[in-house]
Amino acid sequence: MRSLLPGQTIGVLGGGQLGRMIILEGRKMGYRFVTLDPSEDAPGVQVSDHHVKANFNDLDAVDQLASLSDLIVYEFENIDPTLVGRLEQQTALPQGSKLLEVTRHRLMEKAAIEEAGVPVAPYAKVSSTDELHQAIRTIGLPAVLKTVTGGYDGKGQWIFRTEEDVTEWEKQNDAWSQIYVLEKFIPFLKEISVVVARSVTGEIQSFPPAVNIHRNHILHLSIAPATVEDVIRKQAVKLAEQVADHLEVVGLLAVEMFLHADGHLYINELAPRPHNSGHYTYDACNPSQFEQMLRAVIGLPLVKPTLYRSAIMMNLLGEHKEAFYHSFHQLPSNIKAHWYGKNEAKTGRKMGHITVLTDDLSQGLAQLDQLNICPPLTPAEEKAVWT
Ligand SMILES: Nc1ncnc2c1ncn2[C@@H]1O[C@H](COP(=O)(O)OP(=O)(O)O)[C@@H](O)[C@H]1O
Ligand SMILES: [Mg+2]
Repeated sequence: MRSLLPGQTIGVLGGGQLGRMIILEGRKMGYRFVTLDPSEDAPGVQVSDHHVKANFNDLDAVDQLASLSDLIVYEFENIDPTLVGRLEQQTALPQGSKLLEVTRHRLMEKAAIEEAGVPVAPYAKVSSTDELHQAIRTIGLPAVLKTVTGGYDGKGQWIFRTEEDVTEWEKQNDAWSQIYVLEKFIPFLKEISVVVARSVTGEIQSFPPAVNIHRNHILHLSIAPATVEDVIRKQAVKLAEQVADHLEVVGLLAVEMFLHADGHLYINELAPRPHNSGHYTYDACNPSQFEQMLRAVIGLPLVKPTLYRSAIMMNLLGEHKEAFYHSFHQLPSNIKAHWYGKNEAKTGRKMGHITVLTDDLSQGLAQLDQLNICPPLTPAEEKAVWT
């Protein structure tokens, strides 16, 4: 197969910040882009050559995207796999609808991870009061209940610490109109993630694992390389690649994991696309996750990632906009700023990110504090970074 050449057009399903960064990297390589997104001013649309303005369930628009594209990628997973299947019939869509189907459905995802021989937290399917109580008896408390599809940034999930939490949840959610999964709460030491690229030829390359700190269920910081022992870093990469191989991923697979105090790793979630915890690669690695994804779907040889310097990526949310603007003119040269061009700075909305490149992690964290954009690390967060 001859791979796509510069000048040819890549279609992107979704115009969010991930699409934007894929496109910015791909334009350097000489590709042209057409984006399908309902919004005229979406971050990805702003940097595309063409825009198909429509909802993701608009079949005519999907066909139009196919006719304009030599190859199509998706940049988020909450799209209907049948629609992606329709695109697959018409044009090259190397990521495929199968991977999407599995990773957008927590139960299918967990089953696939287990089939790959990789551990997940004990879990059970829950779609009735009886099943919920049975699951709690088997799994025990504390536990986390999650909707099987559609959740992100902690939306669609509840932590049950006591029986009262369960009763309270049942009072407010008695309709059982959707399926849930109940998971054992893992008292993790830290959360780490690995972004794996796998190409159409089966070649695999992974980025260095990152340690992730969440605030209000939204990623706050990613630190790479992960502050864990070398054996844990190697094990994390091994498990992530094992899953990517089993799923026959083409493109990227982001693998989120919990590191338990006993040293075991459990896989939490997968994403078949660039991941927020891989944004550090944009400035700190050759190649970035976005370039590597394009190389993987196009069929170019993958590049073994080089991490130039240690990196701390911090998300800029809607509520950080003013403080970020205030510091913007005085950012030191080792801090790279990215702003996605979203029009409305809502609380909790990812507006941009900054990456600190440093040879000394404590100094890098101190530099972040001096910017005064976000409150400094709490003692618990410090512990998660350094322990
Ligand atoms: N089983 C669990 N044990 C402990 N913490 C959990 C568990 N599941 C989720 N969490 C916490 O909630 C966060 C969000 O959950 P996740 O499954 O990754 O959903 P989302 O799709 O919202 O990212 C995780 O990053 C972790 O901090
Ligand atoms: Mg997650």
